Amino acid sequence: MSKEQAMGSRYLEQLLSTFQAFLDQMFTTNFHSRLADPALYSLQGGGKRLRPLLTLLSCEASGASHQAALPAALAIELIHTFTLIHDDIMDQSDLRRGKPTIHRKWDLNTAILTGDLLVPFAYHLILSSYTPEQAIALAEQLTTGLYDVCEGQAADLALENQPPSVKEYLEMIELKTCRILQTAAVLGALCANNSSAIPTLQRFGHHLGIAFQIRDDYLDVFGDTETFGKPQGKDLQEGKRTFLIAALYEAAQRDNSIPAILQQFLENGGISTEHVPAMIDTFRKFCIDKQAMDAIYQHTQQAIEALQELPFTPARQTLEHLTQSLVDRIK
Ligand code: IPE
Ligand code: IPE
Ligand code: MG
Ligand code: MG
Ligand code: MG
Repeated sequence: MSKEQAMGSRYLEQLLSTFQAFLDQMFTTNFHSRLADPALYSLQGGGKRLRPLLTLLSCEASGASHQAALPAALAIELIHTFTLIHDDIMDQSDLRRGKPTIHRKWDLNTAILTGDLLVPFAYHLILSSYTPEQAIALAEQLTTGLYDVCEGQAADLALENQPPSVKEYLEMIELKTCRILQTAAVLGALCANNSSAIPTLQRFGHHLGIAFQIRDDYLDVFGDTETFGKPQGKDLQEGKRTFLIAALYEAAQRDNSIPAILQQFLENGGISTEHVPAMIDTFRKFCIDKQAMDAIYQHTQQAIEALQELPFTPARQTLEHLTQSLVDRIK
């Protein structure tokens, strides 16, 4: 590890512990007993805290102390957690971060309500922590970001019934994944009262989000269930149009022959667990694993290039370091 990387890691650890202390202080559990336990379970359940780190670092990279961005950072983590709880219901996922999802550990109604609870909590934080002008700007970003995530999640479901296409996949993840990362970064600039940094941070978040979601799709197939915390092959069972499926379909079409396992996946809306190894072999045969990693490298590079438009600061350097470290993340 270089000296800069070591400094970046220390910086991230400090921000993480500051954020954790703020969360512990703010997220007190005066909620209904039905909601207090699952809310804490999801918020304190071992997430990577990528979005709040983006908010805190973007605030510093835009010229203010990260302290100014703590409520906004917590708001974006609450919104993210809300999307995960409802996403797990939609995707029928039993496991997240290596533990049962809320609708499995409790029940469906508890999961719906716990997710719901986090949204007003996020808005309350914004409204009670900033000046009216700042609060309006922050709430506007949060609102359009969340609106787009819903559109992206709707597209994710709709695509399950359509022929896979890389173009449509990219349009879908732009909404369901990039938007919330872009929002996280933009909130940081707004907390620093520096709206001139917004276009740059949006471009950064766009490329970061694409790399992040393709890596997520990659790990679903090539990751380790225990480390990744989500069951291997889940997207394949659910019939999801991931990057891997869309790229395989396009490669197979160019070859004029759709492999039997892909045909089965398309006809049945997914495959069962015992067929996952055959699909993995097919991805490898068509070098789709490599194609996914190439796309991840390329978008990571573009995300880092976008950051070069910001003035050189330790925060910018740490954003670069964080972005680079996500390329080969295993969880
Ligand atoms: C999961 O996000 C949702 C995707 C966009 C793939 P993270 O992988 O950031 O989730 P946690 O919070 O770290 O578990
Ligand atoms: C990301 O998509 C979803 C969100 C916007 C919440 P996934 O469905 O791939 O996320 P994971 O894999 O369940 O975390
Ligand atoms: Mg999903
Ligand atoms: Mg999911
Ligand atoms: Mg996924």
